[in-house]
Amino acid sequence: MINQSVIKALGKTRDSFFLYDQTTILDRISRLREDFPGVSFLYSVKANPHPQVLRTIFGAGIGADAASLGEVEMAASLGLGREDIQFSAPGRSDAALEGAWDRAVITADSLYEVRRLADMARRRGEPIDIGLRVNPAFGFDSPDAAPNKFGVDEEQIIAAAPWIRQEPYLRIVGFHIHLKSQERRKEVLLAYYKNCLSVAMELQAVLGCELEFINLGSGIGIPYGTGDTPLDTVGLGRDLTELWGRCKKFFPKARLCLETGRFLVGQSGGYVTRVMDKKVSQGKIFLILNNTLNGFLRPSLARLVEFYAGAEVPVGTEPLFTQSDAFAFLPIPKRGETEVVTLAGNLCTGADVMARDCLLPRMEPGDLVVVTNAGSYAAVLSPMQFSSQVPPEELFLSAEGQVLDWEGRIIDAQS
Ligand SMILES: Cc1ncc(COP(=O)(O)O)c(C=O)c1O
Repeated sequence: MINQSVIKALGKTRDSFFLYDQTTILDRISRLREDFPGVSFLYSVKANPHPQVLRTIFGAGIGADAASLGEVEMAASLGLGREDIQFSAPGRSDAALEGAWDRAVITADSLYEVRRLADMARRRGEPIDIGLRVNPAFGFDSPDAAPNKFGVDEEQIIAAAPWIRQEPYLRIVGFHIHLKSQERRKEVLLAYYKNCLSVAMELQAVLGCELEFINLGSGIGIPYGTGDTPLDTVGLGRDLTELWGRCKKFFPKARLCLETGRFLVGQSGGYVTRVMDKKVSQGKIFLILNNTLNGFLRPSLARLVEFYAGAEVPVGTEPLFTQSDAFAFLPIPKRGETEVVTLAGNLCTGADVMARDCLLPRMEPGDLVVVTNAGSYAAVLSPMQFSSQVPPEELFLSAEGQVLDWEGRIIDAQS
């Protein structure tokens, strides 16, 4: 994704910015299309809601996995219809549910929400078709169920089925199950898909409904560290197509949906930041970069987690924490000599460190550093108001070579 001449040109007038590469996103879209021919994909807008990113993905026929009314509105304003926007999130207000009513398929996250939606439908005099998020009676890669703030436990759905079936203004037409992101083991994902489809079969019968969609959530992972093997999407797509072919007769009207955020955009983005100062303290070289923790939080967080938890990855910390070697640092210019440096930021906290005692090509004030894997959960997760620094811009490099800003204005990037 690194287009050095564009980065150098943009860096003439900016000390930090994100750059998202449309060609990489289009390549990932083609891979999913080829590898998973029978699947309807939904893009997890929370991963990166840059309008040009959304235009690229929705323009290619991918739907939206929306986690807020704001995300529903973004997807609808870019032309997606109700059937192509699924709105699933815990803890929503009446205003959020009302606001999404005609624009998205709402997936209830609790039995309380099922009741509220049924009541709203009755008040409006308009029946509603909804999805239901299920917390299945198994774990992602274990037979044991885990307590979950998302969705409704499978057993509770079975217990509630008699009243849900009798609701005159509400029909359940889909299930949503998501237990984990960032999985690169094909067999684990396939076993999870099989288990989910069995649950869908069971619950469809218990609820007496005819499913229109089964959304198996996300999970498709990407390699972050240099030693990571990529997920075999060809094999996974082939096996899932075969599995779905066998199940389809039980769900004649249903679409099989998968959600994906980072697979489409994670590797499309770089975070570019300038070396503002260089100093030596007690024999250690510190490079002070622009907008570090506050511009792109996750590399600094990776250092903190590594410091406190070592090699152990705390469960359930995605997408804030992935792994400690998830981000590489590529200096521009790249000099021949190397030195051990600490990459720190300009905030008043010792947590503001992107890399500690790291062997990198020698860098000097004025140089740029590109931090990789900055296309998903990067700008959106960073505390940009901290210390009232000038936040990094989010720029988009089109397949034709034009750089566009958030508003779609063309930026001059001639070197
Ligand atoms: C319900 C749900 N769907 C999809 C995603 C997107 O995951 P990823 O970006 O790993 O594809 C997430 C991420 O947290 C999620 O919680």
